[in-house]
Amino acid sequence: MSGIKLISTGSALPRQEVTNFDLEKKVDTSDEWIATRTGIRSRHYCSGDESHLGLCMAAARQAIQRAGVSPADIGVCLVATLTQDTMTPSAACVLQKELGLAEDTVCFDLNAACAGFVYGLHTAECLLAASPRRYGLVIGCEVLSRITDFTDRSTCVLFGDGAGAVVVEWGADYPSICAVMGSRGNREVLYIPGVNTGSASYIHMDGKEVFRFAVEVLPRCTHEVAEKAGVPLEAIDRFVFHQANQRILDHAVRKLKLDPARCAGNIARTGNTSAASVPILLDELVTTGQLASGQKALCAGFGGGLTWAGCLLQLA
Ligand code: COA
Repeated sequence: MSGIKLISTGSALPRQEVTNFDLEKKVDTSDEWIATRTGIRSRHYCSGDESHLGLCMAAARQAIQRAGVSPADIGVCLVATLTQDTMTPSAACVLQKELGLAEDTVCFDLNAACAGFVYGLHTAECLLAASPRRYGLVIGCEVLSRITDFTDRSTCVLFGDGAGAVVVEWGADYPSICAVMGSRGNREVLYIPGVNTGSASYIHMDGKEVFRFAVEVLPRCTHEVAEKAGVPLEAIDRFVFHQANQRILDHAVRKLKLDPARCAGNIARTGNTSAASVPILLDELVTTGQLASGQKALCAGFGGGLTWAGCLLQLA
């Protein structure tokens, strides 16, 4: 048996907080509609000199510092994102230099939309097994405000910017995170046109279809992770689900018969930050003592692709 454990977390949110009342001033919407349908009350947007790289750096530095490891101890650096500053170099590649990681560190970005961070944890676990160094840095970062179409009121109210980072340690005697992943090629339900399409790169989404997909896949993926790990749901300390919509989360909690106290979320304050949402929430749980040493968190994400991923992560 071999696997990774969570050593430390970090996160960064842009300075500017945008409440539903702020959005009311530029979009035909209301705080009441947004809060009732999604649970979101505010989110953060990058402004001024803030950037995707800046958020990645802040979250990663915090996680590395809290881990008490040297950047030279890191063997893998992955950034889950679909809004990196440049298509190439990747954000992970830029971080290699900015953070002072060794040149033989495996650095790349990966895009599995809102499931990206959990895809990243699984990828890190596999890569670290073949690495000369045992620490990995996995980051989820998004600046979704830059690809939000503010003329589409049913999508623009959902998204926010932010970054979360974790340092994980691989051990030959650590349990695997038992990741479960999937994808279902679908180009209509949730998509962002790429550079070859000639269209503006805005988020397009059929909200009702995404909702149906999410309530189908989130409980199933949660069960599959628990089964693979051989751990009953009652023995799992925290459920760290992608913060997409409070109604999706409530549905999963009911269907899985989970204790809501073990499913604390932050969507009211962050909105949907895609690949960043799971690590931002993990950081909140760790720094507030809601996830303590030795405890297990079942992390799960779902989103564009359509993709989903779940895993069981233990805090060292
Ligand atoms: N403010 C006010 N009214 C709005 C609105 C807004 N921001 N957005 C849509 N409406 C209106 C619609 O125009 C429609 O009005 P009508 O009945 O007069 O035509 C009404 O509200 C209902 O719209 P509908 O699209 O049916 O709403 P919904 O109940 O499906 O909720 C979402 C929309 C987007 C909140 C919901 O579908 C959802 O959360 N889906 C999942 C999205 C998600 O999580 N995506 C990310 C996954 S990673």
